[in-house]
Amino acid sequence: MPESGHKHVVLVDDAVVGFFVIDTANYGFCSKGALGLRAFFIDSRHQGKGYGKFSVAALKPYLQQAYSQNSKIYLTVNCKNLSAY
Ligand SMILES: CC(C)(COP(=O)(O)OP(=O)(O)OC[C@H]1O[C@@H](n2cnc3c(N)ncnc32)[C@H](O)[C@@H]1OP(=O)(O)O)[C@@H](O)C(=O)NCCC(=O)NCCS
Repeated sequence: MPESGHKHVVLVDDAVVGFFVIDTANYGFCSKGALGLRAFFIDSRHQGKGYGKFSVAALKPYLQQAYSQNSKIYLTVNCKNLSAY
């Protein structure tokens, strides 16, 4: 992962249940200065428990604080990936 990829974990009661990367590199199809949400995974043993949805909801206040210079974030999703979509 290049330096632009900032690794994060999703914790529940101090146990890691998932991870994701906040990518500060700029891609051609994104607005200038936008972030990328990449490699977003919830451990298969913990999927379907609401952790994915909770993580995404928690991202907004976290990003506003930790990445206050960036006002947009992009996530690419395969439209056949129903749970992610
Ligand atoms: C996609 C992923 C992050 C979702 O996390 P999760 O914790 O399992 O999802 P949640 O339990 O928070 O469920 C979120 C919503 O998706 C729905 N959902 C979950 N699994 C689903 C499935 N297999 N098919 C359809 N909908 C599904 C839930 O019903 C819920 O919807 P609701 O709020 O309307 O009830 C997780 O499945 C995952 O890590 N998948 C493998 C990696 C991946 O595809 N990452 C995304 C790349 S863009």
